Amino acid sequence: MSAIILNGTETAAGIRREIEREVAELKSAGGAAPGLAVLLIGDDPASSIYVTMKEKACARVGIASFPHRLPGTAKKEELLELIDRLNRDPEVSGILVQLPLPPSLDEREIVSRLDPEKDVDGFHPHNLGRLVRGEALFVPCTPAGIRELLRRYRIPTEGRDAVIVGRSNIVGKPLAVLLAAKNEDGNATVTVCHTRTRDLAAHTRRADILVAAAGVREMIGADMVKPGAAVIDVGIHAVGRRPDGKRILAGDVDFKEVKNAAGAITPVPGGVGPMTIAMLLKNTLTAFKRRRNPGQRQTAG
Ligand SMILES: NC(=O)c1ccc[n+]([C@@H]2O[C@H](COP(=O)([O-])OP(=O)(O)OC[C@H]3O[C@@H](n4cnc5c(N)ncnc54)[C@H](OP(=O)(O)O)[C@@H]3O)[C@@H](O)[C@H]2O)c1
Repeated sequence: MSAIILNGTETAAGIRREIEREVAELKSAGGAAPGLAVLLIGDDPASSIYVTMKEKACARVGIASFPHRLPGTAKKEELLELIDRLNRDPEVSGILVQLPLPPSLDEREIVSRLDPEKDVDGFHPHNLGRLVRGEALFVPCTPAGIRELLRRYRIPTEGRDAVIVGRSNIVGKPLAVLLAAKNEDGNATVTVCHTRTRDLAAHTRRADILVAAAGVREMIGADMVKPGAAVIDVGIHAVGRRPDGKRILAGDVDFKEVKNAAGAITPVPGGVGPMTIAMLLKNTLTAFKRRRNPGQRQTAG
């Protein structure tokens, strides 16, 4: 039997409509609109595509975006000065620094300079610490998107075995925290696998929820999946171009094979990717609302 497709494109469109409505209401109440500063340093083609997608997504829901493009030769001081300015700018609700940065810049130092209240990617140490405590201001967008997809498709996590392949700071680790959290969207028993994991397949075959975030093209085959499992594919790999020039993408999961073993599966493209962008918009709106109501104790999980 073929798996249910967890349609990230459709789910993200629904979330964008919710955000668009809320932004329109805020504007019609005479208030300012949320704004996102988007920093791109260097000319990495993939980063450039992602940044353009994020800016377009902002425009579609009425969030202003403020692009800042710096050459790959930009000095640390120049970037820190820009971040300081954006931290002070009342029109800027959120700041996104597109990663990876050129090797001359220390990612940790740059991200740590963001005002945690504007850190809509949720990568600032303050926000990652709060995430672990279950008091996140902003949950990193990809893990937040995965949690939202599971929630909206009513895939239960409580008591389930969740296995995550990958332990990066932006995907694997924060997702492990979310799925293990003591709340209705968590309560899973989580295993995090990586390159030093012995017998990876023995772990993945136990998973009720399997998340592939290793960055290795189609490494998860049907023989690594428990029948009926929910399989979430985070990987994105450009594998060629169609005659019309559009990129052909693949994931970390062998979709053709695994869709016949899994109970539910995300496609690539159209799964986790659009959810990630929708969560960025949601975090930007949250940042805006928090600024308007500084006393607000709202947390994202
Ligand atoms: N859809 C989206 O919105 C989105 C967002 C972010 C990333 N991505 C994609 O997701 C993938 C992962 O991204 P990332 O930034 O998390 O990657 P990353 O920083 O390179 O981390 C990869 C992780 O996978 C582990 N790993 C690599 N090969 C493995 C193997 N053969 N067996 C077991 N574990 C293995 C690594 O282990 P070690 O720690 O031992 O090295 C590491 O923990 C990439 O394809 C990326 O493009 C997609």
